[in-house]
Amino acid sequence: MIDRILAKRIVPVIVLDDPASAEPLAEALLAGGLDIMEVTFRTAAAEESIRRISARFPEILVGAGTLLEIEQVKRAKDAGAQFGLAPGLNPKIVEVARAEGIQFSPGVMTPSEVEQAMALGCKLLKFFPAETAGGVGMLKNLAGPYGHTGVKVIPTGGITSANLASYLKLPVVAAIGGSWFVDKALIAAGDWKEITRLTKEALAAAAQA
Ligand code: 3PG
Repeated sequence: MIDRILAKRIVPVIVLDDPASAEPLAEALLAGGLDIMEVTFRTAAAEESIRRISARFPEILVGAGTLLEIEQVKRAKDAGAQFGLAPGLNPKIVEVARAEGIQFSPGVMTPSEVEQAMALGCKLLKFFPAETAGGVGMLKNLAGPYGHTGVKVIPTGGITSANLASYLKLPVVAAIGGSWFVDKALIAAGDWKEITRLTKEALAAAAQA
């Protein structure tokens, strides 16, 4: 599973208000060449959206984001989520995700949080909020003491096609996450062509890194 994220190196952070948008969005991303989706549990539509995507698009690696509650992890798994992320590090969520068999990446921002995540056995971490937390410079510093441990990060927060390559060039960065190409306004407008165009642009930028 991690291999697939590592191959494309881009994770779309998706907020859906209506599960009816899930399938056209999946098609738009596939048309752009991306077969990974992180649907965030920030809306009531998340669970049903994951269910529809996993049922109709077995070729898509679908995961759940913003997992803040134990019951969300279980609902995500039952709906078909294959991986999970959260903005922060909650040991209970790590434990339940492991018990449910979901590959889970907790969010970290500081050295102490990196060490806590490592102590819990997590090796692929979300680095959030990436740009605000110091971006590429911060990650270069964190790679000093932690690079040799094999821990990798998925920086998210403030990343776009303009800066993603600077992150992906860092050996500590496995992939980046972002919402700019699956923006809520584009989804609300049903602008699937623009989402496909932005997805292609993002993958092209990642390939240059
Ligand atoms: C997240 O949840 O990871 C962020 O909201 C995504 O950040 P972005 O909207 O700046 O890409």
